[in-house]
Amino acid sequence: MSTAPSLEAIRYARGSLQLLDQLKLPGETVFVDVADCDACWTMIRDMNVRGAPAIAIAAALALAVDLEASKAGLSTSAEVCAFVAGKLDHLFTSRPTAVNLGEAVQRLKASASALAAAGASGADAAERIIAECEAMLADDVAANRAIGAFGADALCAAVGKAPGAPLRVLTHCNTGSLATAGYGTALGVVRCLRERGMLEHIYCNETRPYNQGARLTAYEIAFEKMPGTLICDSAAASLMQQKKVDAVVVGADRVADNGDTANKIGTYNLAVSCAYHGVPFFVAAPVSTLDPSTKKGGDIVIEDRPAEEITHVRGARVAADGIGVWNPSFDVTPACLIAGIITEKGVVPKTSNGTFEVGK
Ligand code: MRU
Repeated sequence: MSTAPSLEAIRYARGSLQLLDQLKLPGETVFVDVADCDACWTMIRDMNVRGAPAIAIAAALALAVDLEASKAGLSTSAEVCAFVAGKLDHLFTSRPTAVNLGEAVQRLKASASALAAAGASGADAAERIIAECEAMLADDVAANRAIGAFGADALCAAVGKAPGAPLRVLTHCNTGSLATAGYGTALGVVRCLRERGMLEHIYCNETRPYNQGARLTAYEIAFEKMPGTLICDSAAASLMQQKKVDAVVVGADRVADNGDTANKIGTYNLAVSCAYHGVPFFVAAPVSTLDPSTKKGGDIVIEDRPAEEITHVRGARVAADGIGVWNPSFDVTPACLIAGIITEKGVVPKTSNGTFEVGK
């Protein structure tokens, strides 16, 4: 089966960046011109662009656009380095939990420092940094395709159906073309199963409170005419009880060294339900989402989002006045509940104590 065309969230050409306003989906498809890093910071913070890889790539491409516009005024590589560091330090503050942004910030700052130390010209340093930012788009799609292939193999092996038998898969949040440069991580695994003729059905959780599942994953599934069904987050355990789920695959915002995984709130509920029902639970993420410097899940900073995301729906209040709100954007799934962490380099092996060492 040939690959179906898919959606895109990021449009880039040298000196120009447009981001799809994901808050307007699925009703309207609106691309917003992003002139500089400040505009990108606001779009990340407000979740017009979201998803761990997409956040990092959007930030890097905003830097590329900003640098392209400013490079004529930066005569030395030291000036380029200071410009890059200042912009990236600000972008880094937009959202704390997804590690991909921090990884890109550190890497690009290190590249700029190395160019300055090597005495590159200002023009050469700017060109090299812009090229490094631009490479992230193609690199991410290639990584996602590899994740998809490794993941499809891993799910088939874990489920243990007859060779070639199609699978019924459940996913959470949005990890597809809209959360990445294209193809997706967990949804990339689903896409690969479909390309192999091995997807019987994809179920997606609506993913309260921001409904990334209902608005975005359901949109991607419908766009590509996959056999798919939307469920309430609270219906997932019942679906497993009725033996309608062969495997669950989700994305990640940060994977600690022992494999504990931060992902969209509700992921942990799914993993617990999977353990009870004997359904294999997989995490799919690029290597840039693995964070060996964070030893365990308890060390991951979890972003708190505004109360209005729960109390209001599209601007209209739905919750009782006067009620307090707790709105963590992510939860942490312990490594012991995870069957495998699928990356573009393969599936991270489990240690003898049932956790992982993702830094190895
Ligand atoms: O708050 P969001 O929408 O940025 O959260 C997204 C998720 O939790 C995704 O599962 C994760 O970033 C992986 S996207 C490939």
